[in-house]
Parts: sequence; C-alpha cells; structure tokens
Amino acid sequence: MVIGILGAGQLARMLALAGKPLGLKFIFLDPTPIACAADVGKHLIGDYTDKALLTQLADEADVITYEFENVPVDIIDFLNQQTPVYPPAKALLIGQDRITEKTFLQGLGLATAPFSDASSLAELQASMPEIGYPAILKTRRLGYDGKGQVVLRSAADLADAWEAIKNAPAVVEGFVPFDREISIIASRSVSGEVAYYPVSENNHEKGILRLAQSTQDDPMQAQAERYIHTIMTALDYVGTIALELFVVGETLIANEFAPRVHNSGHWTIEGSETSQFENHLRAVMDMPLGSTDSLGYAAMQNFIGNVPATEKLLSLSQVHLHLYDKAARKGRKLAHATIRTDSLEHYTDLISSLTELAKHSDDS
Ligand SMILES: Nc1ncnc2c1ncn2[C@@H]1O[C@H](COP(=O)(O)OP(=O)(O)O)[C@@H](O)[C@H]1O
Ligand SMILES: [Mg+2]
Repeated sequence: MVIGILGAGQLARMLALAGKPLGLKFIFLDPTPIACAADVGKHLIGDYTDKALLTQLADEADVITYEFENVPVDIIDFLNQQTPVYPPAKALLIGQDRITEKTFLQGLGLATAPFSDASSLAELQASMPEIGYPAILKTRRLGYDGKGQVVLRSAADLADAWEAIKNAPAVVEGFVPFDREISIIASRSVSGEVAYYPVSENNHEKGILRLAQSTQDDPMQAQAERYIHTIMTALDYVGTIALELFVVGETLIANEFAPRVHNSGHWTIEGSETSQFENHLRAVMDMPLGSTDSLGYAAMQNFIGNVPATEKLLSLSQVHLHLYDKAARKGRKLAHATIRTDSLEHYTDLISSLTELAKHSDDS
C-alpha cells in the first residue's frame, strides 16, 4: 500500500519510518528541494497547487494524508475526487483560523480563553476593556511555534503589537493563568475505532515546545478524553489528532487542536506500545488501532537551532536520539531525544541532563 503525504518534513519522515515495518511505501509532495523525508520515500518537488503533481500523487497513493495544517482546503477537495484524504477537510477548515476554531470549541461546550476579533487597531483597542491585561494578540491564520503572537501588558503596547503582526487579521485572547499545559493525543479510524494516549505535560519557552512528559493517571485524563472525543465526533475525524489544553485548578481550557501527529506525542515512539505515527497510519488505512499503553516513564526534549554533540546524547543510557537531517537554522526544530525508563529516579536524572544539554545548545 502507498501512503501519500502533503509535506516532507520531520513529521512525514517519522510517519514513513513508522510505516516501513508494515510494508508501506510513501510518496511526498513538498516544494522544498531538500526535504528531510525524501530519503524514506519518493519526493515530488513542487508547489502544493501544482495540479499535475497533485494528480500524480493521487494516482500513485492509495490514501493521502498531510503533516501540516495549512494545506489549502481546495487541494484536499481536488485530491479527494480521486483518492481518499484524511483527516477530513472540515478539520482543516476550522483549525486554520483561530476565531473559527475557538468558536467551534465553545459551540461544543468546551471552555476556551476569552477572545475577541481584532481586525483593526481600533477594534483591538475597543476589545481590551472586556479582555483585560495581560493578553495575547495572535494572527488568525498561519501562526505556529508562537510566531505571529505578541503579549499585551498594557494599553501602551497596543500600537506596537499591531504593527508587529503587520496589520494581519487577528484575535486577542485573555492570558490564561494556567497551572500546567497539557495535550491529549488520540487516533480515530475510518470505522470509528478510537484510542487515547496518556496526556502529555508540556513546557514551552518563547511559544515553542521544549519538553513533553508522558503522565501516568493524570487527574485531568478523563476530562481531556471527553474534550477530544467531542471534537473528533463533531469533525467525523479520521487519523491522529492533538488537543492543547491549559489546566487551571480542576478545569481544562481548550487552546487549539492540530489535525495531525503532534510534537508533544513524539515520546510515543519509544514510550508507547504503538506510536502516534503508526496509529495515524492504521487509522487512515482503516486497520485496527494498536494499544496506547505506556512502557514506563517517557519524555521528549526538543533541540532547537542547534543539536548537542551526538556522542554526549548517545552516552546517556535509555535515551533515544532522533536527528531530522535538517540544516541548522535559528529557531528551527532539528532533533529530539526521548527518555524511556522504568526507574523514576533515572528518569528524573535524565530529564535534568537533557534539559541542561538543550539549554547550552539552544539558540532559538
Ligand atoms: N491565552 C493564553 N494564555 C496563556 N498562554 C498562552 C495563551 N495562548 C498561548 N499561550 C502560550 O503560547 C504557546 C503558543 O500558543 P498557541 O496558541 O499554542 O500557538 P501556536 O500555534 O504557535 O502553537 C502556548 O502553548 C502557551 O504556552
Ligand atoms: Mg500551540
């Protein structure tokens, strides 16, 4: 069976690596000439709007998926005429715009941060008495890893913030004074079988995920599963999905969902019976999903901008290194390392070692 993927970055690469033992073949469409998934499948180099390449992708693939959420929806519709594409276009349509997304989440009865449309500086100023400070101004579209976001501390920040996002249509959100940030990842197959991973506890710096730790019997697990179940059902979802959440006391506030495999689930490669990548493939092929049981304590550290010396990382026992084979660039995710161990003590030591190594190499 051949899986087509829009995008050939590290998520596509990890999907392909997960699919190889199942005998799957992969074909990617990505405009970047040197893409890190290219050595684990066939790479069609060209624009996502290139009809000839899209037709070739649909011809050669049995099912198509994507690794990023900014795929234009009309491309999905075009491909779908020939070959099934999962997750469904509805997930993209809603998730690509922060206001549509938050309105959808609230419509499902899920709590979100207070938010208001900010399509002009005047509208932003008018929203602030209700939203209050601190707040965050975010572009409605195309933001990721904290890009297109500015923190607002007082009315004096508004004009500069508006300039910083370059007049893009935006949303202003009240800052959620969270105790923890978590995410839940789940997979749902074409037939509707569902599997949930243990929630991941996430640390971000400058809007970029740094450390993700799997949890065991997290007090918010059941509530997080209810949230993501509600979303998957409403979207008639197929594939792996991630929901980012803020924990405030006993309450979960939904931040955003990603209709794809997610950085906070990379620890599932070694830390779970079946990884988020394999379950995504099983889901889109309508195969039975694999067990999401944990195999001990697991965590993932991202390496951004720079990667510590390979020898140092490989000298740590029960640490698994994933190099994405990407050129180093400031702020770019280049690699991650996963810890997986049965010993809580060793786990805690390894977290310290990895965060220390990451701190010294980080240039984001
Ligand atoms: N309303 C908010 N209150 C508190 N922190 C926030 C809020 N919105 C975003 N953040 C912080 O910024 C990070 C990135 O924001 P997010 O909305 O997830 O955008 P992105 O698409 O860049 O991931 C979040 O993980 C969180 O740490
Ligand atoms: Mg996010």
